[in-house]
Amino acid sequence: MKAIAVHPGKAHTMHMRDIEKPELASIPHGRGVLVKVLQVGVDATDLEISEAQYGASPQGDDFLVIGHEVFGIVEEVGDKVDHVKPGDFVACTVRRPGKSIYDTIGRSDITSEETYYERGINLRHGFMTEYFVDDAEFIVKFPGQLKEIGVLAEPASVCAKAIEQAYAAQQRLQVWEPKTAWVMGAGQIGLLATMMLKLRRLNVCTIARSPAAGNLKAEITEAFGAHYVSTKNSSLEDVAKEYGRPDLIIEATGNSMIAFQCMNVLNLNGALVLTSVTGGSRQTEIESDKINLEWVLGNKLMLGSVNGNFRHFQEGIAALALGSAMYPDTIEKLLTHPIDGMDNYKELLPLLADSSVLKVFVNIATA
Ligand code: BGC
Ligand code: ZN
Repeated sequence: MKAIAVHPGKAHTMHMRDIEKPELASIPHGRGVLVKVLQVGVDATDLEISEAQYGASPQGDDFLVIGHEVFGIVEEVGDKVDHVKPGDFVACTVRRPGKSIYDTIGRSDITSEETYYERGINLRHGFMTEYFVDDAEFIVKFPGQLKEIGVLAEPASVCAKAIEQAYAAQQRLQVWEPKTAWVMGAGQIGLLATMMLKLRRLNVCTIARSPAAGNLKAEITEAFGAHYVSTKNSSLEDVAKEYGRPDLIIEATGNSMIAFQCMNVLNLNGALVLTSVTGGSRQTEIESDKINLEWVLGNKLMLGSVNGNFRHFQEGIAALALGSAMYPDTIEKLLTHPIDGMDNYKELLPLLADSSVLKVFVNIATA
């Protein structure tokens, strides 16, 4: 069957190749699920992998099948699988467990081992192919009624985790009632986080570079009831003056410099969550004395959040469902750039490299 792969560590090597169709029996104890792939989304991580800044092949292979955002339909299940059945729509988690205590309790998203295994990213083949098999433990059912937005399940899981982690960590304050949240960046993570924070009834500013006029990202932000703010002509301090200092910031610009600039504006007792995976080597000068003093005196918190486990997928999918009901015809607007079949994989990279493009995904098959 067809697959799209790269040679990790060598830039610009994306190619189509033939791989074997996986067998249900390759997963032991009757726990296998065979899924026909319908759509695979790509994001900045795929771009970094293609540019050899990130990612690794499975041991023994010199290629990595890409694709970590998958939506598919179950074709066959092992005899011990009961939470999905043939014909169900599903997404699939990305990380696979290592050996730390977190991995053994289903929290590979917070593994304490240096090495992590991620399908389509690091040491495990991905989903940009026609079929995949995995353990039922990683297969998440998706409501068929919402199948048009199924390919957003994985990014939604990443947002659900980032927000959940902030709320969990803020238990340190005994009482935390955030009022204002900022989302830095209006890519898929920024926009889905915006929606989830609005579903939690916060005042949300979604802050990005491009001006609002004629900008789909601004349109979607406002349809969720958040404010879209362009930093073209205003600094973060200006935004803080106008909308108030944020109690919570979700940083999702892909630019590590912004992560540190955010440290200047966070409110007292606030939480700053970093989610951008930046494979580069940018260096940034910061006002360390000022920030250090303010952060100590203000009891502020910064945390990193990566990936999403089974439970975060369920939360992300629940948010997509509630968001679809609360903001009709809005979430699907994220799905801007479909690619028609794996044969057209060469269209992927130019679109991924264009920062004005919101979401690129490949339609692989129909149900
Ligand atoms: C993926 C996550 C993954 C992270 C780090 C992101 O693009 O969506 O699932 O954990 O990259 O590799
Ligand atoms: Zn991703």
